[in-house]
Amino acid sequence: MSINRRSLLKSGAGGAAFALLPANFRAALASDGFLEIVAGPSQQKLYSGNAPQSDLWSYNGSTPGPEIRVKRGERVKVRLINKLEEATSIHWHGIRIANDMDGVSGLTQKAVEPGASFEYDFIVPDAGTYWYHAHNKSWNQVARGLYGALIVEGDAPDFDTEHDRTLILDDWRLDQTGKLDTASLGSLMDWSHGGRLGNWLTVNGESRPNYSLNANEAYRFRLINTSNARVLELDIEQFGAKVLGFDGQILKAPTDLPYQPLLLGPAQRVDLLVIPNAAVSMSLDEISGGEAFSLASFEVIGKPDSKPGLPALILNNLPEPDRDNARTFKLDMTGGAMGRMGDIVYNGKKLDGLDFRDTGQVWAFNGIANLADTPFFSVRRHETVFLDTVNNTAFLHAMHLHGHHFRILERSGSDVDEGQPWRDTFLIGPAQTTQIAFVADNVGKWLLHCHMLEHAAAGMNTWFEVTD
Ligand code: C2O
Ligand code: CU
Repeated sequence: MSINRRSLLKSGAGGAAFALLPANFRAALASDGFLEIVAGPSQQKLYSGNAPQSDLWSYNGSTPGPEIRVKRGERVKVRLINKLEEATSIHWHGIRIANDMDGVSGLTQKAVEPGASFEYDFIVPDAGTYWYHAHNKSWNQVARGLYGALIVEGDAPDFDTEHDRTLILDDWRLDQTGKLDTASLGSLMDWSHGGRLGNWLTVNGESRPNYSLNANEAYRFRLINTSNARVLELDIEQFGAKVLGFDGQILKAPTDLPYQPLLLGPAQRVDLLVIPNAAVSMSLDEISGGEAFSLASFEVIGKPDSKPGLPALILNNLPEPDRDNARTFKLDMTGGAMGRMGDIVYNGKKLDGLDFRDTGQVWAFNGIANLADTPFFSVRRHETVFLDTVNNTAFLHAMHLHGHHFRILERSGSDVDEGQPWRDTFLIGPAQTTQIAFVADNVGKWLLHCHMLEHAAAGMNTWFEVTD
């Protein structure tokens, strides 16, 4: 099955209403200092015009959930209350967190059952743009809307609220009435191909919002891709934007992108510096659908006297890999439609092709689908790890490492991620190889998986261990 994105695009496009600034929901603090986050059903209109509301799952009643804003080094205390019909947990994506707070159901905690609650209590060591999302049956729960932004401010004065814009970009699959298509959730066709791709995009849960900016003022745009599987291709040329950082980590200086369009894989973030220089209107266009989809428009208001003041952003103190004393591990990605199947082991037994309908497993890392009893590798705390990944599949993937940030040392056939930036999620195309390096300084059991959530569910999921 495939829904033609363009047909929906063409039939829709109601007049874009002027919207307010992205809502900065503040959740209530309970008397014990915990921020209460209730995961539950809610309704929200995703499509434009007078489309019906969709039945979503969300945090505190809307998608995205409340933006959590804290300062570097602060303690975050969240009480997750589960009012869903299935068990859930929250993962704090990109935070170098204590292992038992990582929120991975089945690895770092038991999933929180319906009616139950769980207290997350952790320190955020690094400033930057992060997000939080459900981490139990993520392919289902994130697709229905369980996510929000987690913004960690630096200790120095940052951009003020007016100039600091979080833009959460999501890809939804809507049915012909414009409601979230829930019937196709879990489609094995999606699992074995490119994941659940949608036909409509929103910004902060809104359809084609309109924002206003002042000319000659400096803005920080924090873009977060919360799509299940779509690698967003963003045309940012008209913004004259420079990159401030990737995946939460600020670069030494604002940098021009060495390639166009900007690729933003599922779970990846990019911080952009935007200084509009004239009173024009601009559109943030996504072009992976073949024709431009205007995600949001920006009205620029002329203010001749204003001068761009650029706050001094501070780099985080990440441990630098020791390149001369690294331990190298190899990751062979296989499977999927049109891929080399070979032998895939799942739950200790070899699958044959016909098992797919029962197990849903079709991808593998080093021949193993999903989490085995033993880790992919085990290292001692402070060891440097080189991970050499080869994508022997016919698809693009977005690989995410939990609990650590890594440098991208080398990639074949692409100038994406030039300059060895820090990241927590990297893209890897068919037949490409990528080498990453990180210091395994965080003790515990950590996931390494494809953030195309159907791929992870269908086998692209493993774990490693850091021991004391
Ligand atoms: Cu953003 Cu394992 O997840
Ligand atoms: Cu993948």
